[in-house]
Amino acid sequence: MAASHIKVTPTGASLGAFVTGVDLSKPLTDEEVAAIRKAWLDHLVLAFPDQPMSHEDLERFTQYFGPFGDDPFIAPIEGHPHIIEVKRAATEKASVFAAAWHSDWSFQDTPPAGTILHSKITPPVGGDTLFCNGYAAYEALSDEMKAKIEGLKAVHSAALAYAPDGVYGKGDGSDRSMTIKASEDALNTKSHPIVRVHPETGRKALFINPGYVKTVEGLSDEDAFFLLVELYGVTHDERFVYRHKWQDDMLLMWDNRCTQHMATGGYDGHARLMHRTTVAGP
Ligand code: OGA
Ligand code: MN
Repeated sequence: MAASHIKVTPTGASLGAFVTGVDLSKPLTDEEVAAIRKAWLDHLVLAFPDQPMSHEDLERFTQYFGPFGDDPFIAPIEGHPHIIEVKRAATEKASVFAAAWHSDWSFQDTPPAGTILHSKITPPVGGDTLFCNGYAAYEALSDEMKAKIEGLKAVHSAALAYAPDGVYGKGDGSDRSMTIKASEDALNTKSHPIVRVHPETGRKALFINPGYVKTVEGLSDEDAFFLLVELYGVTHDERFVYRHKWQDDMLLMWDNRCTQHMATGGYDGHARLMHRTTVAGP
């Protein structure tokens, strides 16, 4: 039986859809999982409103889409080694976590295919998450640019964020409520093709992001900088961006292989709490 009770409603932006007609606090059928996976590949970001979920529900849902990914630098919650908390206290002065465009853990040898975020406490203002569509950005490039970047590899590293002198290192706000473990491991680099062929859809996407890409193999730092800035200008153009507004008990899943995302602030004085899992790549 097809999972015809599942309703998928596109956001109207370049990416993203809302999914209703399914209860994520219960085990899903194979047909339901297949329908959600198809919608995920079609829309890149899926939002499931009104889904109160326990830790076990979140873990079970995540594993329908693959094994858990490996989450470095951030301590998991007690008793649940694959769930991390993305949180900010109402009084917190530390910078908003993840408030720069990135694709999760893109510096890993095999970056996570997906990330799942479940909202527990959402602020009444601000705290939106932005997403952009790496397929649409690639397709919008000129033929000259497509030829120029074909075969080039970007050098990814976690250093800017997680090295001892990175954003979340020694100089970080002392009142940060997340437990982030900056380390020398963040200095490692890994190169990935700028033009990534998505392993499930076969479509080409731009796979770069300013959070983790340092430079481009074979180019001077200056040439790499100008090339990346030009590509980011397209990728982050509002034509290709979806601004996600949260409600409590909303589950969001995104495809890291063909999107970038970033947190936004604007909610000082209010708490925000999310639980997060990752799905291993590719
Ligand atoms: C993340 C992330 C964005 C947000 O958890 O990977 O980037 O809005 N979060 O909290
Ligand atoms: Mn992220």
